[in-house]
Amino acid sequence: MDIAVPPLPNSSKINQAGNLEVAGCDVTELTAEFGTPLYIYDRRQIVDNCRAYRQAFAAHTGDYEIIYASKAFTCLAMTQLVAAEGLSLDVASGGELHVALRSWFPPQRIYAHGNANTHDELGRYVRNEVGHVVIDSLDELAALDSIAGEHGRKQPVLLRITPGIEAHTHDYIQTGKLDSKFGLCLAEGVALDVAARILAAENLELEGFHMHIGSQIFSLEPYVRAIALLADFAAECRDRFGFVCNIVDVGGGLGASYTTADEPVGIDEFARLITGTVRDEMDRVGMEMPRIAVEPGRSIVANAGLTAYTVQAVKDIPGIRTYIAVDGGMSDNLRPMLYGARYEAVLANRPGAAPTRTVTVAGKHCESGDILVKDAELPDPRPGDILVTPATGAYGYSMSNNYNGQPRAAVVFVQEGDARVVIRREEYEDLVRLHERLE
Ligand SMILES: Cc1ncc(COP(=O)(O)O)c(C=O)c1O
Repeated sequence: MDIAVPPLPNSSKINQAGNLEVAGCDVTELTAEFGTPLYIYDRRQIVDNCRAYRQAFAAHTGDYEIIYASKAFTCLAMTQLVAAEGLSLDVASGGELHVALRSWFPPQRIYAHGNANTHDELGRYVRNEVGHVVIDSLDELAALDSIAGEHGRKQPVLLRITPGIEAHTHDYIQTGKLDSKFGLCLAEGVALDVAARILAAENLELEGFHMHIGSQIFSLEPYVRAIALLADFAAECRDRFGFVCNIVDVGGGLGASYTTADEPVGIDEFARLITGTVRDEMDRVGMEMPRIAVEPGRSIVANAGLTAYTVQAVKDIPGIRTYIAVDGGMSDNLRPMLYGARYEAVLANRPGAAPTRTVTVAGKHCESGDILVKDAELPDPRPGDILVTPATGAYGYSMSNNYNGQPRAAVVFVQEGDARVVIRREEYEDLVRLHERLE
């Protein structure tokens, strides 16, 4: 039987035992084997999303690059999948680079980002010959130029501009407005000056421009305005410096479906609009069509993933609300606390049962704000039930933490009835692994 909770992976259904099944695996059996909390990813859906991006862009342009934003979710298995699907990779730190390189991800397909890269991180990008570093400040430009010189490398770079556009999303995930810690603003010639300096730098090769206007975007109109501004900027760089822009990277941000009410724009529609707009805008300013790059994160992994918890307690506050306490929370999913992100819940051991009450799903942490789902409609939840929150595949594990001494949860990839642990569960001993005793 199909299950009417759209944010779950497409392969989800109710099996003959009456339990939730994902990619042929019974979720209650997965939790019995691997414990809870447990992140579960439908491997096929990740692959399908990678392919959907490639096919959608290939339908509109011969020169495109899909760069998976590894901040959304990374591990050796994930970067292996991304590499095998022919995508490139966005890393935002030396740590994300390390994971990529440990999985033998081809460095020439890596874009290195960051607004505060250290000397050590820049050195790693250069020494490992990453394909592109995305310049985010004048100081970074100077440091990177000197490091590249020390290594005898001419480092290809993009320049990140902030177009001054407000995407309609949560304030914390807006990144393209004028007042932003990311990128270089177009106002008062700031970005133009940095472009001139990159072009004058001995050890840097400017190849194009980058922007990222925000995340969880449902309306594509801000992209259109931002690309127009980027095209004006590219034309100005051509007119002043004779610069030819070979790459336009419009960042990530395409929304995912976290709740039944969310209706994100599809990948095809996104590709059609981005390629069409870049083509029109480059035409308008009299420039050749560049390579179009996009950096999707959540739209590749969010809906492929879910988290399973065990219900520990049910607490009724008469006339006020009922709390359902689970064995995870803000340590495995920080997004509700960070952005007020909304999720839904379903019981894996009774997914087909009609809801009987509206409850609040609370985490186990020592914060009253540690609420995973507000107003979940559930069928009389009880201790021992397996509660699942769909659409936790992006920025869940990657933002996970050890608050209250909670070991990080395990991650399994499921496919055709097979489950494979791709990140092992931390043990209590891991919590003190880096500690030193006093004498
Ligand atoms: C530079 C950059 N590119 C891509 C992304 C991925 O965004 P999303 O996961 O919303 O697609 C981010 C997210 O913060 C980002 O900062």
